[in-house]
Amino acid sequence: MKDPILLDVRGLRTVFDTRAGRVCAVDGVDVIVQRGECLGIVGESGSGKSVTFASVMGLVRPPGRVEAGEIIFDGVNLRQLPPRQMQALRGRDIAMTMQDALTALNPTLTIGEQLAEMLAAHADDLPRSRSDRRRVIRARSVDMLTLVGIPSAGDRLGQYPHEFSGGMRQRIMIAIALASKPRLLIADEPTTALDVTIQAQVLELISNLRAEFGMSVVLITHDLGVVAEHCDRVMVMYAGQVVEEGPTERVISDPRHPYTRGLLASVLRPGLRGQPIRPIRGQVPELIDLLPQCRFMDRCPEADEDCRHLIDMRPVGPGRRARCIRTALPTTEKAKA
Ligand SMILES: Nc1ncnc2c1ncn2[C@@H]1O[C@H](COP(=O)(O)OP(=O)(O)O)[C@@H](O)[C@H]1O
Ligand code: SF4
Ligand SMILES: [Mg+2]
Repeated sequence: MKDPILLDVRGLRTVFDTRAGRVCAVDGVDVIVQRGECLGIVGESGSGKSVTFASVMGLVRPPGRVEAGEIIFDGVNLRQLPPRQMQALRGRDIAMTMQDALTALNPTLTIGEQLAEMLAAHADDLPRSRSDRRRVIRARSVDMLTLVGIPSAGDRLGQYPHEFSGGMRQRIMIAIALASKPRLLIADEPTTALDVTIQAQVLELISNLRAEFGMSVVLITHDLGVVAEHCDRVMVMYAGQVVEEGPTERVISDPRHPYTRGLLASVLRPGLRGQPIRPIRGQVPELIDLLPQCRFMDRCPEADEDCRHLIDMRPVGPGRRARCIRTALPTTEKAKA
């Protein structure tokens, strides 16, 4: 039987050496993605979400580098893979759509050319003759674009990225990411720049394609509402670390970390319309020379002197962990204590 774990990241540490000092963007992060699941990654901007998955993809560029940790994808240790093999794996087995579609797409190539490049590089069933190849690739490109909801796809293959709207570009990037039928799709804030209706369509599309291709999805977002609707499990990141993780329903109905509670209070939730939105006070700290204490301490309404030391993730229920000294007990038991 196949290992149910597709991606297993342990102790990932990614740093950027800057003039101001060493930015530790990702500090001891563990991630597990099961086959076929959708894992949500949430946290405010600057929490280390994008850098975590850029590290998995081998896309961290100097002055950044992955300093420590293991990245095992389907049994293969990606950190030990030669660059050429890593490049082949990227796109074919793992694909990532970037936060900003306009910079991620190549502005000098038409959509058709970019799709064709991906399809040609990753399909092993293309006909030998050049004209037949071209015909098949074109037909598949039209299929892919139609699948992601681009109308009259055949006519639009010859257009450049800037000729499409933001929502269309996100869909095109998803189409290119899916052209190789990856086993893992990492979607980095796929809907942040989009209006609400298009957001829903793009997320629906990702969910449908996940079912169709049987792939796993990592959905990076700062919106817990999106996670609630689409993800089986959720990982909450803060200041370069994971602070809470578990099955989505459990985490949202009974969050154990004060930061998760803060995030929940700061988003609109269906059914809680009348409730005011309370943003978390303060800001994500700069990830340079952090003190050996709970990183959320400055902003935490429950902080006291006991929080002034390094805090590990600890189990807080079946399949659940949180990084807080005070929330290890279920709320009911806490009330009794
Ligand atoms: N190229 C870079 N140089 C220096 N610091 C960086 C660079 N890229 C990201 N960082 C830092 O890494 C941290 C995490 O960034 P990121 O993963 O993009 O956060 P998120 O995706 O959660 O918003 C931030 O503090 C950011 O300033
Ligand atoms: S360890 Fe202390 S400061 Fe950190 S989240 Fe828990 S209560 Fe707040
Ligand atoms: Mg990001």
